[in-house]
Amino acid sequence: MSGQKVILVTGASAGIGEACARLLHEQGNIVYGASRNPGPAAWKTLALDVTSDEAVARGVAQILAEQGRVDVVVNNAGLVFAGSVEDTSMEEAKAQFETNFFGVMRVSKAVLPSMRLRKTGLIVNVSSLAGLLGLPFQGLYSASKFALEGLTESMRPEVAGFGVEVVLLEPGDIATSVVANRIRVAASGAGSVYRDNFEKVVALFEKEETHGAAPAVVARRVARLIETSKPAVRYTTGPMAQRFLTALKPFFPSRLFERCLTIYYGIKG
Ligand SMILES: NC(=O)c1ccc[n+]([C@@H]2O[C@H](COP(=O)([O-])OP(=O)(O)OC[C@H]3O[C@@H](n4cnc5c(N)ncnc54)[C@H](OP(=O)(O)O)[C@@H]3O)[C@@H](O)[C@H]2O)c1
Repeated sequence: MSGQKVILVTGASAGIGEACARLLHEQGNIVYGASRNPGPAAWKTLALDVTSDEAVARGVAQILAEQGRVDVVVNNAGLVFAGSVEDTSMEEAKAQFETNFFGVMRVSKAVLPSMRLRKTGLIVNVSSLAGLLGLPFQGLYSASKFALEGLTESMRPEVAGFGVEVVLLEPGDIATSVVANRIRVAASGAGSVYRDNFEKVVALFEKEETHGAAPAVVARRVARLIETSKPAVRYTTGPMAQRFLTALKPFFPSRLFERCLTIYYGIKG
C-alpha cells in the first residue's frame, strides 16, 4: 500500500495507539485517533468507545463521509483485568472480552463492507505475546488475546479474495499507561486465597512493563507493515528476550515450560 492513506487507530489517546497515530500522521497519512475520551491531538480525533455498536457505526460513517474510504485500521484499544480466574466475576470476564475481543470484531465488521467494495484494506489486530502464552493472574486478558488470534486466522482466508489483509501484531512488554490502567478484579484483595502469589506476579508484570520497550517501537513496526504488500499472519515486536522465549514454547515439553514460568514468576504452591 503506497501513498497517503486514511487510517483509523483505536485507543489512540495513550500508549501504543498514540505512538502509532503520531508516527502515521507525521508520515503524511490522514489519521483518525479514536478513544473514549480523546484529548487535543495533531491528528483527527474521534470519541469512539469500541464497546458501543452505535459509536463504532457513527465513527466509521464519519470517516467514510469525510474521506470516502478507510485504508487501514489499527485495532489497538484494549485494557487489562488482573486476578486469578477463580476471583474473576463473570461480569469482569465479559467486560474484558467486550473491549479486547468484541471491540475488534465490531470495528472490523464496520469497516469491512467499504474495504470489500474497494477491493483493498488492511486490518492490524493488536494482540500480545500473552495471546501465545497464558499469563498467570491475567487469564481473562490472555484468553481475550488468544481469542483474537483465532478470529484473525479465521478471517484472513474469508476476506483475502476481496483484497483485504488482516494481521496480528504481538507486542511484548511496552512502557505505556498499562500499569496505571490495569484493573484488579474486585475479589483479588484481602480475603483472596491467591493474594500473595497474585501480588507478587502483578508486581513483576508492572516492573517489566515499566522497563519495557518504547511504544514508538510498535509504531514503527505498524508503519512498516502498512508498506508490506503480502503481510504474514503475525508479527512479534518489543523486547527480544521475551519474543525469543515465547517462540520456544512449542519446542519444550509442556510441563517443563510451565515449570520454568512458575519459577520465573515466583509462584508458590
Ligand atoms: N503495554 C504493553 O505492555 C502491551 C503488550 C502487549 C499488548 N498490548 C496491547 O496494546 C494495546 C494498547 O495498550 P497500551 O499498553 O498502549 O494501553 P494504554 O496505555 O492503557 O492505552 C489504552 C488505550 O485504549 C483506549 N481504550 C480503552 N478502552 C477503550 C474503549 N472501550 N474504546 C476505545 N478506546 C479505549 C484508551 O483510551 P480511553 O481511556 O480514552 O478510551 C487508551 O487510548 C492493547 O490492546 C494491549 O492489550 C500492550
